[in-house]
Amino acid sequence: MSKKLLLAKAQVPGIRHFDVYRREGGYASVEKALKMKPEDIVEEVKKSGLRGRGGAGFPTGMKWSFIAKPEGVPRHLVVNADESEPGTFKDRYLMEFIPHILIEGMIVSSFALGSNVSYIYIRGEYAWITNILETAIDEAKQNGWLGKNIQGSGYDCEIYVQRGAGAYICGEETALIESLEGKRGNPRIKPPFPAVKGLWERPTVVNNVETIAAVVPIINEGGEAYASIGVGRSTGTKLISACGNINKPGIYEIDMTISVEEFIYSDEYCGGIPNGKRLKACIPGGSSVPILPANLLLTTAKGEKRLMNYESLSDGGFATGSMLGSGGFIVLDEDQCIVKNTYTLARFYRHESCGQCSPCREGTGWMEKILKKIDTGKGEMKDIDLLWDIQRKIEGNTICPLGDAAAWPVAAAIRHFRDEFEWHVLNPELCLTENYGLRHY
Ligand code: NAI
Ligand code: SF4
Repeated sequence: MSKKLLLAKAQVPGIRHFDVYRREGGYASVEKALKMKPEDIVEEVKKSGLRGRGGAGFPTGMKWSFIAKPEGVPRHLVVNADESEPGTFKDRYLMEFIPHILIEGMIVSSFALGSNVSYIYIRGEYAWITNILETAIDEAKQNGWLGKNIQGSGYDCEIYVQRGAGAYICGEETALIESLEGKRGNPRIKPPFPAVKGLWERPTVVNNVETIAAVVPIINEGGEAYASIGVGRSTGTKLISACGNINKPGIYEIDMTISVEEFIYSDEYCGGIPNGKRLKACIPGGSSVPILPANLLLTTAKGEKRLMNYESLSDGGFATGSMLGSGGFIVLDEDQCIVKNTYTLARFYRHESCGQCSPCREGTGWMEKILKKIDTGKGEMKDIDLLWDIQRKIEGNTICPLGDAAAWPVAAAIRHFRDEFEWHVLNPELCLTENYGLRHY
């Protein structure tokens, strides 16, 4: 059984409320951190090996150490709670049921970074969670854990919650910053990175909800203890939101040493595939990462069992691997149609493109149109090559990663399931039947 660090107390009745959370040992990391030097907290996070849990997996301690410290310029911590990646709903769970772990992690992180005013930018659709977070912030403040002179330490910190308005692109850190400043959420060109020039041009660290929550056990137990969990550069625990054709969809905290096979089939996690169906494919890290067919999902290019971690899931690059990404694990059984699935994702990315760069703005529209054509039985063989060509021209040629995120699912679908695209072209009369999956087997 995986060790639980973030969800250890999730089942305690009333854990959402300050009194219960505090009684269960909450805010101990703040007590400890306020007696440390900020740079020692950063060092502890570096030792832990914690990597950003939003999707990119960038080392958190390293990001923190990049924060610029110009004399007299305020710094900020911004928590990215704009969880919009299809298949990803782990931050929602943390914020809804254990909001104080985020507030606690934010106080420690803000202290380490020298931020006196920190923000949570939450996706607009999580309106009810905004209320939960604001209640938690009020409770923390009433009990002296936020505001002026926290617990007599001389350190001041305020936390504000800002709701987005439903745009996926506002989860991209620079678009998020623009939105927080009250502007349209258009991504900025990087560099400069937010750590140097972020919110109102001030040094800013943007971290995902789960990343900041993980700072709590790191400070409580020590960076080395955290690093001893997991394997290689995949240290600590990771929240996975599992959905699709599985018996037990939900949120799981795993210790990144378990295999993908165990995660899908064991009763402790997904509990297998309903009705004895076969596993066809999986998108292991949120909709932006490449889909993998069952054989490559369970086994790496080296013939080893694939593990649920950063290195193993990306083993072989995009030819035979994928990414752990945000931990949005979407399972597809034998009845699912890859063309339909890819078309659905393409529609999403076309809708969410901010339109600033031509390859993304035009390319996502072209991909959607061509996929619709193939899916509805009007495609020609040359459309498959055209689709491949368009995605290649988007990848790497845009301001922000949304372009890549739109291109990769299309590339992987054609790479691994080209026969299915060809089947649609060769069997136009069957394309609009209800039974998408069985027509291929
Ligand atoms: P990125 O790799 O560009 O950056 C990662 C982080 O490291 C950023 O905060 C960046 O500012 C920082 N960084 C990198 N190099 C730096 C340097 N030299 N100096 C200072 N800071 C530096 O990736 P990004 O754009 O933050 O995230 C992309 C990922 O987000 C995708 O892989 C996808 O999986 C994920 N994603 C997650 C979503 C969700 O709902 N959780 C939604 C959409 C995408
Ligand atoms: Fe906007 Fe797409 Fe360019 Fe990102 S890649 S800045 S979403 S047009």
